[in-house]
Amino acid sequence: MPQKPSRRDFLKTVSTASAAALALRMAPAAEAAAAPTAALPGRKGASVVGLRAPKLDLVRCGVIGLGERGLPTLGELMLLEGCEVKALCDNHAPSLANGVAAMAKAGKPAAATYGDSTEAYKKMVERNDIDAVFICTPWRLHVPMAVAAMKAGKHAFIEVPAAVTLEECWQLVDTAEETQRHCMMMENCCYGRDELMLLRMCREGVFGELLHGEGAYLHDLREQMKSMEHGTGSWRTLEHELRNGNIYPTHGLGPVAQYMSINRGDRFARVVSLSSPSLGMPEYAARTFPEGHPRRKAKYICGDMNTSIIKTARGRTIVVQHDTMNPNPYSRANVIKGTKGVFQGYPNRVYLEGRSPKEHVWETDLARWYEQYEHPLWKKVEQIAAKLPSSGTRGHGGMDFVMRWRIVQCLREGLPLDQDVYDAAAWSSISALSEKSVAQGGAPMEVPDFTRGAWEKTAPLGIVT
Ligand SMILES: NC(=O)c1ccc[n+]([C@@H]2O[C@H](COP(=O)([O-])OP(=O)(O)OC[C@H]3O[C@@H](n4cnc5c(N)ncnc54)[C@H](O)[C@@H]3O)[C@@H](O)[C@H]2O)c1
Repeated sequence: MPQKPSRRDFLKTVSTASAAALALRMAPAAEAAAAPTAALPGRKGASVVGLRAPKLDLVRCGVIGLGERGLPTLGELMLLEGCEVKALCDNHAPSLANGVAAMAKAGKPAAATYGDSTEAYKKMVERNDIDAVFICTPWRLHVPMAVAAMKAGKHAFIEVPAAVTLEECWQLVDTAEETQRHCMMMENCCYGRDELMLLRMCREGVFGELLHGEGAYLHDLREQMKSMEHGTGSWRTLEHELRNGNIYPTHGLGPVAQYMSINRGDRFARVVSLSSPSLGMPEYAARTFPEGHPRRKAKYICGDMNTSIIKTARGRTIVVQHDTMNPNPYSRANVIKGTKGVFQGYPNRVYLEGRSPKEHVWETDLARWYEQYEHPLWKKVEQIAAKLPSSGTRGHGGMDFVMRWRIVQCLREGLPLDQDVYDAAAWSSISALSEKSVAQGGAPMEVPDFTRGAWEKTAPLGIVT
């Protein structure tokens, strides 16, 4: 029979546990120290942690890529006070024409247009009447376009994921440091109502010491395979033929990284990754396209369900999953767990020890939590948005508008951005590292410290307003 623990045993256990908890909080990254740190490439410029660029009374923008994402980006930039769109670029004539028409419909002065070649953006970024370039193009164009923009003295705002390879991640960091320009990956999900509330709850210690998070991109995008010549599916489908890993990690990962203050007190140390078989695309192709169709002949190598696990320098864990090729109700998982409780998204539920009404039972009505912890940025921008014409441009439940409003606010007030180039690189790098891990049977891959040590001294992102 197991013996009942004595009071002395109990106290011993408790004090060991408290010491462990204390160690997690206080020790300088014991986990990271244990892992071998690869030699970091030398820095060409100065760190851009906390970069403050000179204030801009008016933020003058150029937009590259006017497809599914670029058009709504343009639509919202046109609504923002202190923001003007000066130039548009798309080498697909009908898409460029859509941008021009949207500006005319909004009654805005016509922007300069660029679209006579795939390299027309290089001329656009040289204009001396733009401050910021919004890049809404296919993934493999993000880095060349952002690098060109920064080298031409512009701030670069890139769609997700910022980069495809590790080399590209470093290119973004090096160029931002060399040019001292902002380079932000526009992870809109960090500005969702729930995500902002959770960020505040984490900062206020509601979940206690953070232990574990989960993010995902489970979104049935099979329909996109029908785009052949133009449109998202025309280039995104190809990625499934070229890579096997988590090819789109940042929607779920970005918010968790912010809850955990990644690059600002903690960092991703290593990642392991495994993929399931790739069955969804061939199955969909077989029943959707005729015999001999390129989508039926293609060989899809990207495992449908990729699961990656990140270990942080301070010992926390993060699960990131990806599947866009099977039936699945939309989910970004959005899990954050600490010593005092846990939140899970899709559907939302929370459990906080001593605060939730019933022990061991989820709370699913979150009204009282929103009331207490709604993020002030969300409240403020919601009021601003309510006064604007309801033009149908405020996408993804309002998070897109909050993000774009905040970008313009930071540029106008000379504030550091909430997501910097180190976040763009670290969050995007999970893609390339997951591919390497999958290729080696799930072997651990070290995540480069893109901050080159600054993460230990950088303050967490506060509750911005
Ligand atoms: N944050 C989000 O919620 C979200 C949602 C959708 C898409 N995205 C991202 O937005 C980006 C664009 O995706 P999309 O769905 O709009 O794709 P899309 O194919 O609809 O649009 C891309 C546009 O880029 C243009 N383009 C391609 N090459 C170009 C070049 N050399 N110069 C100028 N323009 C060029 C295309 O003609 C097209 O109009 C991707 O990175 C995607 O992951 C993000």
